[in-house]
Amino acid sequence: MNNMELMRSRHSVRRFKDTPLAAQTVEALNAELAAINAESGLHLQLVTDEPEAFQANKPEYGSFSGCKNYFVLAGPKGKDEAIGYCGERAVLKAQALGVNSCWVALTYKKGKAAVELNRGEKLYMVIALGYGETQGRERKSKTPADVSDYKEGDPDWYKNGIEAALLAPTAVNQQKFRFERSGDKVTAKTAGLGFYTKVDLGIVKYHFELGAEKGKEIWI
Ligand SMILES: Cc1cc2nc3c(=O)[nH]c(=O)nc-3n(C[C@H](O)[C@H](O)[C@H](O)COP(=O)(O)O)c2cc1C
Repeated sequence: MNNMELMRSRHSVRRFKDTPLAAQTVEALNAELAAINAESGLHLQLVTDEPEAFQANKPEYGSFSGCKNYFVLAGPKGKDEAIGYCGERAVLKAQALGVNSCWVALTYKKGKAAVELNRGEKLYMVIALGYGETQGRERKSKTPADVSDYKEGDPDWYKNGIEAALLAPTAVNQQKFRFERSGDKVTAKTAGLGFYTKVDLGIVKYHFELGAEKGKEIWI
């Protein structure tokens, strides 16, 4: 599966089977988090077989059921965009390993999550993980014209980047971001007010880079 197919196949999943993550998968995810943390200075963690944060042993909790695994997104304060960018890198690694996910800022028991914080760090949010009862489903999306200055004749890489960004998860599917191109560089900014728009921006920038097949040098 190429990166575009991988992003297209990912949907939020909130109901999980009672199957523990495979040992090899846990190892691969931990290796990915170690690489991410070394590059970014963040403190992302994988928690497995921990039912309390999502009350997995209760019959129903919020819109989640059976979630016993999650990524903890922690790090120094003021790193919201990096949390988005790095968290989505971890999400797509999980997806490639057959592990479904859902970003969760609000609908979990924050006080019960198994989090390690060093001095000066904070818990931003978590990402629910597991083998989904389903693979989730496609949802409504804005169009390239809604979120960018894209016009006919623009380079393919720009079109592909925007298309990939539109596949990215955003809080309450708000998709409040905007891209503008000047030559071979792009500006990405949040468009309008909303919760977690800086985290969203990091997520969509990661998707854009994968879709456009460009690195961080693309950004103005
Ligand atoms: C920063 C952020 C916070 C989110 N918080 C929650 C949450 O608290 N509870 C929840 O059920 N979903 C949450 N979501 C999931 C979004 O609702 C979901 O990603 C969005 O509706 C798009 O759907 P998709 O992920 O299937 O593309 C969050 C997503 C993001 C990016």
